[in-house]
Amino acid sequence: MSAGKNILIVDDNLDIGDLITLTLRDSGHHCHQVTTCAEALAYLDTHVPSLILLDVNLPDGNGRDFLKTLKQKNPQQPVMMISAHGSIALAMECIQLGAYDFVEKPFHVDELQMRVAHLFEKDHLEKRIEALEFQLGEKHQFKSLVGKSPVMARVFERIEIAAQSDINVLVTGESGTGKELVSRAIHFNGPRASGPFVAINCSALPAQLLESELFGHEKGSFTGAVAKRIGKFEAAQGGTLFLDEIGEMPMELQSKLLRVLQEREFDRLGSNETVKVTARFVFATNQDLKKQIVEKKFREDLFFRINGLPIEIPPLRQRSEDILPLIQFIASKNAAGKPAGPLEIDPAAAEILFRYPWPGNVRELENFVERTLLLKRGERSLQKEDVISMQTAAEPLSDLNLEAMEKKFFIEALKQSGGHVAKAAGLLGISRDTAYRKLKSYSLQSYTSV
Ligand SMILES: Nc1ncnc2c1ncn2[C@@H]1O[C@H](COP(=O)(O)OP(=O)(O)OP(=O)(O)O)[C@@H](O)[C@H]1O
Ligand SMILES: [Mg+2]
Repeated sequence: MSAGKNILIVDDNLDIGDLITLTLRDSGHHCHQVTTCAEALAYLDTHVPSLILLDVNLPDGNGRDFLKTLKQKNPQQPVMMISAHGSIALAMECIQLGAYDFVEKPFHVDELQMRVAHLFEKDHLEKRIEALEFQLGEKHQFKSLVGKSPVMARVFERIEIAAQSDINVLVTGESGTGKELVSRAIHFNGPRASGPFVAINCSALPAQLLESELFGHEKGSFTGAVAKRIGKFEAAQGGTLFLDEIGEMPMELQSKLLRVLQEREFDRLGSNETVKVTARFVFATNQDLKKQIVEKKFREDLFFRINGLPIEIPPLRQRSEDILPLIQFIASKNAAGKPAGPLEIDPAAAEILFRYPWPGNVRELENFVERTLLLKRGERSLQKEDVISMQTAAEPLSDLNLEAMEKKFFIEALKQSGGHVAKAAGLLGISRDTAYRKLKSYSLQSYTSV
């Protein structure tokens, strides 16, 4: 696992450089030696070493500043410092700046070999984890869909099943829960992705106009039909037709739609020409269709036809685990090319966001984050005062003090990140060091896995 890597040695002491080269060649690695920062930079123009061994004191610069340059060029670059006894403090500083480790001169060859092997092993594991996470993400994240909660995992599973079939899908959920996004995910993650995705809102038009939008019409087929027009059924051929707010479709059109779904063909208005339907159908509603059936506002036979595979998206207040990941996602989308780390979220603010009922669901959260970032003119943090207006609507707070609240908040983040401290820090928008410090001060090490 640790054999055969390319290693760059930057040390002006040629004896030390030679010793390192010999030692690491013994472990099967390839070494390249340079004696100055300038030579190292020239080498890095054309090479990407698996490890750089960097002396703390160099003739044309100090190792600490050079480390910063290296990390700027490639933040993932593993660097190990070589330090003489007198510069241990400097070497420690380098570790804070992202160097992996340091070896002290004079060193024992076994020790050097061991430290290098350890670094490659860790690097290998990290890459493996990243690859696995990527695969998992590809499978379940559907790119723009964020969700860590178990209820959303079930939604993702259904999307996957729906995407691989042509079954009629009914997506339900309150306003702003992501019904349209889910419908797009079904289309774009299946074999129809290269075909059109056509959406029509059934509540936006009066019955006759909606009918001609769906079916298309010949010129002169009704007053106002001044030209032949292709309808949505036809426009969506080979792709997906998304009928949004299906609960609002006028009754008389419902029976016509039912016929199209049963026979998979239709006539353009004012024409006898029969057109075969090759689109698949996805429907969405925030209405309770069963209640509408009882109230005779929705046809029961149409309901059974469109409800081939139901996908119910739970409201945001029932999946508070999704709130922080969504905020970070929205904030990163809104960074507009500026270098943007995660948003730093104050525990007291998060506590309010968790308890706020979010009647407008993800759309409301999105508006809130965008508005707040705009008002804060690029300051990337969420403080209690940013959410103060939500406090009255939030569920009453049991008498927690600030410390207990912060602790609860960390536990929550750790749970969501599977005990992975770096990821928990990412969710909270704080540095890894701060996260470790807090973990220690709250004695939460038992919640960590890494
Ligand atoms: N899981 C999610 N991940 C990322 N963004 C989401 C998610 N769910 C919703 N959104 C975002 O929230 C907003 C609302 O989503 P969408 O329009 O799909 O909701 P909807 O259920 O169709 O709402 P309505 O009932 O009002 O039509 C969109 O900007 C969408 O991108
Ligand atoms: Mg919608």
